[in-house]
Amino acid sequence: MELEQSARMREEDSYLANVFQRYPVELVRGKGAYVWDSTGKEYIDFMAGYGVALVGHCNERIVSAIKAQAERLITCHCSCYNDVRLELLRRLVSVAPKGLNKVFFCNSGAEACEAAMKIARRYTKRHGIVAATNSFHGKTMGALSVTHASKYRDPFKPLLDGVHFVPYGNAERLEALLEEDGSAGKSIGAVILEPIQGEGGINVPEDGYLPRVREICDRYGVLLILDEIQSGLGRTGRLWASEHWGVVPDVMCIAKGMAGGVPMGAVIARHDVMDALKVGEHSNTFGGNPLASAAAYATLECIIEDGLVENAAGIGRYLKDGLLALKERHRVVRDVRGLGLMLGVELRFDVKDVLMDGIAHGLLMLYSGRNVLRLLPPLVIDEDIASRALSLLDTLLSREERRRGL
Ligand SMILES: Cc1ncc(COP(=O)(O)O)c(C=O)c1O
Repeated sequence: MELEQSARMREEDSYLANVFQRYPVELVRGKGAYVWDSTGKEYIDFMAGYGVALVGHCNERIVSAIKAQAERLITCHCSCYNDVRLELLRRLVSVAPKGLNKVFFCNSGAEACEAAMKIARRYTKRHGIVAATNSFHGKTMGALSVTHASKYRDPFKPLLDGVHFVPYGNAERLEALLEEDGSAGKSIGAVILEPIQGEGGINVPEDGYLPRVREICDRYGVLLILDEIQSGLGRTGRLWASEHWGVVPDVMCIAKGMAGGVPMGAVIARHDVMDALKVGEHSNTFGGNPLASAAAYATLECIIEDGLVENAAGIGRYLKDGLLALKERHRVVRDVRGLGLMLGVELRFDVKDVLMDGIAHGLLMLYSGRNVLRLLPPLVIDEDIASRALSLLDTLLSREERRRGL
């Protein structure tokens, strides 16, 4: 179905950098798992600002924390101390994987990955880094260097040198590379991985993979950086996706929904690793500002105290079972995968028509590559919303099959 672009959308396009794959919908309001467009039409939001609306849109706790903080102090550079930042640091470190107890704040996922790579260089004094095929870590030059897709990389070469890609899920290839690097004088200092790949197609590795990677990194004296930007903070039914396999990284990157939608990212590392960075070697203007810190503190409180991690696990199972049932009924579905509320539905064709038809029918979803529908709903959804989404998806898949003559 062709959706009309309004005059206002065309006007926005005329001003905004033309770098986004745009959906023809103008969102003006949100509550929980719902958003409304400028005509008043309601949507179930399984796009959630690319997975940002973890605690739902305009969550009351976050809104009041932001309002209260906005009236007290909005900006305070990390060169000065701040009460709210301290509260957040305490809370974040108390729930971080064991031993990760020092934090660098930033404003986005890519920035967190940039900082993680600088920390690793400084700590190991080696510039080489291993990333995985189908990885996504952001689009700034450093983060892009460890992002695999050539359509993102090629126009901006040369990128960082010393980056090696190994197949995601294949620990043997990683080990072989580190062995070879060892005999050639050791230039590799870190491995960066998503515990579950998001942009690359919702790829959940086999159970033994991450524990093997951890063991290999230890054996070769290489840091393990886990990028939990999409998978972290309860999304997969555990607070950190790495918990599914009992793996603790040396450095962890988070961002997206950590401050309830206010821009914020963070790197959390072992203190000996973080302390390799000296005063002035890395910093920023906005990281850890009181407004974002207050929002992040309230977000953590919601995720933990309101049981959103458990909810993501329970509703995630319900949703995945429903998707698997759709797979049985619809030949257009090739695979269903994911954990918790980080789910992918692989189709036999490009998902664009289904996504656009979803908008027309009031269901917002994401793509992940050309043929995977990605579902990243807020962690606050209940069975009722999940079953409404499933029934809409049922309709959308039937329509796609009719379009394709299946
Ligand atoms: C795993 C992962 N890392 C890094 C990023 C980059 O985050 P940002 O867009 O905030 O720079 C993303 C964004 O989707 C992501 O999913």
